[in-house]
Amino acid sequence: MTIFIAIVGLGLLVFVHELGHFLACKVTGTRVETFAIGFGPRLFGWERDDSPCPAIDGLQKEAKANVKKTDDAIVDSVILQGCVEVEHHEIGVYENLILGAEAMSRQDAVAVLKRNLESEQSALQKVRAAWISEIE
Ligand SMILES: [Fe+2]
Repeated sequence: MTIFIAIVGLGLLVFVHELGHFLACKVTGTRVETFAIGFGPRLFGWERDDSPCPAIDGLQKEAKANVKKTDDAIVDSVILQGCVEVEHHEIGVYENLILGAEAMSRQDAVAVLKRNLESEQSALQKVRAAWISEIE
């Protein structure tokens, strides 16, 4: 019983010690990769997904492939086409986020998302204009 209490007590001590590091990182805005106690196999946990957006990743791959296949004379036009596709995707994402925020009655989030949507729509208009002037 004494050994069990010692292990739990030591575990609690290590937890509080590591929690101090974790909270210091959170306060200073430092990214935390792992919060762990001990070196044994992982018993439980969660991971944040920082992988790139699959749709944007796909659009970038498509754009690179198209540029490779394209004659130098029209490569700017092909790049601008890729930009138009990206802006359309981003607009769709913001429209979906707005619908979700509205469904949750989060008008504060809706307002921010609508500003971002307007920014994306403005970017689309600028890219479209650049593309049209490129092909004329
Ligand atoms: Fe954008």
